[in-house]
Amino acid sequence: MQAINELTITDAATQQMAGTPHPRLRQIMGSLVRHLHSFAREVDLTPEEWLEGIRFLTAVGQKCTAHRQEFILLSDTLGMSALVNALHDKRATGAATKSSLLGPFYRQDAPMMNLGDSIISKSEGTPVVFYGQVIDSERRGIPNALVQVWEPDETGNYDLQKHDPSEMDLRGCFRADENGNYYFRGLCPTGYMIPMDGPVGDMIRAQKRHGYRPAHIHFVIGAPGYRELVTALYVAGDPHIDSDTVFGVDESLIVKRNAVDRASPLPDLPSIHYDFQLAAAKDGMSGRVGADPSQITSKVGA
Ligand code: BEZ
Ligand code: FE
Repeated sequence: MQAINELTITDAATQQMAGTPHPRLRQIMGSLVRHLHSFAREVDLTPEEWLEGIRFLTAVGQKCTAHRQEFILLSDTLGMSALVNALHDKRATGAATKSSLLGPFYRQDAPMMNLGDSIISKSEGTPVVFYGQVIDSERRGIPNALVQVWEPDETGNYDLQKHDPSEMDLRGCFRADENGNYYFRGLCPTGYMIPMDGPVGDMIRAQKRHGYRPAHIHFVIGAPGYRELVTALYVAGDPHIDSDTVFGVDESLIVKRNAVDRASPLPDLPSIHYDFQLAAAKDGMSGRVGADPSQITSKVGA
């Protein structure tokens, strides 16, 4: 019989899992156990500290509902979502716009709208036109690409965070035209603090982090034959642009608001212009980090 001690336990645990028939599951779980054990050895973890960690993860799970995904928030604030996005971007075969976090406020049932429509239904704030082209790695327009967008209101809250989450505001889906051009009206994005009223907020406060995200608007863009792009545009000049709590900002995703723009399809409004580039699909993977929260909770135990 093998003696179990702080060094032999790792081989004992991974050997017991070695018969996992699915090769990728075997690889992922084996590696996870090795790294988890190394972490415990490195910090000389005590039973009380480990129980505190389990208490924390239990609270994270208990905070989740169909409209609140505390585990995505945890992944985001630990830099895990940004890391998985960066690994995903590296697997693209052609040039493509960088990914950014999907975050916990995406909804897959946002209304379909016409080009030029406004996603603002209840909110007040400065309207702006977002426009540009969806292009491939060779910069050719991708006809009829589906552009899904969502953003917070002028107080920094998404519709899902308000009293009746069934009422949608500041989100919509647009079909680009035959040349891949899109345009719609929305609010000039506002920065906000991530939800701080749960265990992830407690963690952020314990670490003396500010908890803010710089002003941004989210996009999910797809077309048959292309890797779906999950990204966001960040407004230049935001005070938290260099210290995003969830590490979503890339230089290439920073945009300027133009007060005057004669090239805009709605030249009477301020504009934000951006062309999104999609790589060809290779592996059929969507590349999302996160999902509509209602879809995750509805699958648990299904
Ligand atoms: C968001 O951008 O919607 C978001 C991302 C991560 C955590 C909280 C919010
Ligand atoms: Fe956001």
